[in-house]
Amino acid sequence: MSRLIVVSNRVPVPDKRGTAPAGGLAVALQSALKTRGGLWLGWSGQSCAEDAVGPLRTVKDGNIEYALTDLTERDVEEYYQGFANRVLWPICHYRLDLAEYGRREMTGYFRVNRFFASRLLPLIQDDDLIWIHDYHLIPLAAELRRLGVKNRIGFFLHIPWPSPDVFLTMPVHDELLKGLTAYDVIGFQTDHDRNNFADCLARQDMGHRLDMTRFVVGERAFTTKSYPIGIETTEFAGLAKRAAETTLHKRMLQSLDGKELIIGVDRLDYSKGITQRIDAFETFLTRHEESQRKVTLLQITPKSRSEVPEYEAMQRAVAEQAGRVNGALGTVDWVPIRYVNRSLRRPALAGLYRMARLALVTPLRDGMNLVAKEYVAAQNEDDPGVLLLSRFAGAARELKDAVLVNPYDVEGTAEAIARSLVMPLEERRERWKSMMTVLCTNDVFAWCDTFLEDLAGGKAEESGSHSV
Ligand code: F6P
Repeated sequence: MSRLIVVSNRVPVPDKRGTAPAGGLAVALQSALKTRGGLWLGWSGQSCAEDAVGPLRTVKDGNIEYALTDLTERDVEEYYQGFANRVLWPICHYRLDLAEYGRREMTGYFRVNRFFASRLLPLIQDDDLIWIHDYHLIPLAAELRRLGVKNRIGFFLHIPWPSPDVFLTMPVHDELLKGLTAYDVIGFQTDHDRNNFADCLARQDMGHRLDMTRFVVGERAFTTKSYPIGIETTEFAGLAKRAAETTLHKRMLQSLDGKELIIGVDRLDYSKGITQRIDAFETFLTRHEESQRKVTLLQITPKSRSEVPEYEAMQRAVAEQAGRVNGALGTVDWVPIRYVNRSLRRPALAGLYRMARLALVTPLRDGMNLVAKEYVAAQNEDDPGVLLLSRFAGAARELKDAVLVNPYDVEGTAEAIARSLVMPLEERRERWKSMMTVLCTNDVFAWCDTFLEDLAGGKAEESGSHSV
């Protein structure tokens, strides 16, 4: 079996506390690599002065070897905070209004991708499969090809790919599209994302389609498919079951004092629809007064990308909003919203999912959303809770038996909360069973194997064997 090299911006080097890495990419890749092993290269999370970037730091954990590079302060500002998180992220999440295009940031983005290529090059052996992840690193394969790398290189996008009308507003859209054609396999979360990408190629008159999955652009042929990412379903279900015995679980149950728990777990990000969700919860409580003092929303929201102005503003906005609702509706012995700004360890999280009667997973746009999948896996099959899921999350295309909502429709979501809380046991069981079947079939190992089978499936294709 070929060695696998994974490259991603964020690398979740295990810390001593065992805190869950925030973000689906880290959780999923760590599970996938655990059994297969391999080399994982990425940013150390540290920034330094221009002349202080040292050699790669390597850390071994089981059969995964992490290779970490520092970036300069300028790199982090331009490539990560700038182009990745103030252009690509908002564009891919349909937030044109938040995109801040700047030549300096764009140049920084391509420069850092060149830098990643130069760090990776000495580590590559002939047979290695190279798998690059997410929007930070779109041009990386093109840079590696420029340096003469002939290995098979795959790319997986964890976030949505928008329709051409949105994508083409980006000044460097053609460079990014062309950059992607340097890969052999390009994976998306859903067919919808894959089709949007194909529509972008067609709109720009780039190459042609050979069949459902294969394209030719210039001298390169590549495959593009959807590979919906999964979780470690069986392991997570076991974790949730065991968590019911822990002291945290017992303390939490005691503090609820018979109230139903509703849970929301998201990185603090505008794409997650947290403010709309709190509005919906407030509307539900106001319209269903009989539910007041009978339910508690636990919103767990680790801070994220705090140096980016939009995220900093959001931290204040959500904290104020939760405080306002608690002030307006709370009583001396009941707090409607428990708002927590830290990440929890995975066993604790699994136990809370299992305890919750209802999960609110209501992003305005999301590549997949693994919280939705973890919540389902954590349920007690005799008395499962209900998943209320945004139709704009990639997960909604698989979890069709969730209660699907439009998160922009605050009143509609409020009524869906009310319906979910009184859903009969029989219906809850049926919905849960059907979602669990999907999660067991398409778990994170299946996701990884399917992608890597396709990636291993041939030699790097270039050399003018196809003409446009
Ligand atoms: O899952 C999408 C993603 O952007 C990952 O690429 C990233 O690791 C995660 O969310 C968390 O974001 P960040 O790495 O910017 O903290």
